[in-house]
Amino acid sequence: MGKVVGPVLKLFFVVLFMSSSVHSSSNIEEKRESDHRFQKLLCSKQKLTRLHFYFHDIVSGQAQTTVMVVSPAKTVKPSPTWFGQVNMFDNPLTKGPELTSKLLGHAQGLYGYASQVDISLLVAMTFIITNGRHDGSSFTVLGRNTVTDSTRELPIVGGTGKFRLARGFATAKTYFFNDTVAIVEYNIVVIHY
Ligand SMILES: *[C@@H]1O[C@H](CO)[C@@H](O)[C@H](O)[C@H]1NC(C)=O
Repeated sequence: MGKVVGPVLKLFFVVLFMSSSVHSSSNIEEKRESDHRFQKLLCSKQKLTRLHFYFHDIVSGQAQTTVMVVSPAKTVKPSPTWFGQVNMFDNPLTKGPELTSKLLGHAQGLYGYASQVDISLLVAMTFIITNGRHDGSSFTVLGRNTVTDSTRELPIVGGTGKFRLARGFATAKTYFFNDTVAIVEYNIVVIHY
């Protein structure tokens, strides 16, 4: 018995070793293939895309899309600029300024009140496009939004799908606001491959 088990076991390990080495060499090929595709992408012509939509930040009511996730620590004097508060949101993006207008995508992310002297946000969000030519692609915005300025500019730092390796900027203008909603008009200029 022992005489049979020995060679069988050896064969088993040889097969195991071979299959794992076959596996790793196909991984290397896959990596080469994806490196090659990436090189091709980098050599292709860059495109400039402009997008326009309205962003609905609904802070209360039935259709609420934004929730406070961090409440500032208790201080002697409450901050007039909400310094320290953080909200998370999943906000609709529409073609026109009305919420009932055609849905183009969503903005998902966080904003934190980052200034002690004005109402200024640190924004980290991803715009996910769900309609039209860029359906399924997304790009990410990271920057400062001084909401009381009539026009704000935020950097676009990357993207996925059609917006791979995206760079650009978003211009934000408040279209309307009251106690329940802020509707912000966004103009996007994005360079991608
Ligand atoms: C704010 O404006 C929206 C949209 O016009 C409206 O539905 C909502 O009732 C308003 N809220 C307040 C508190 O005025």
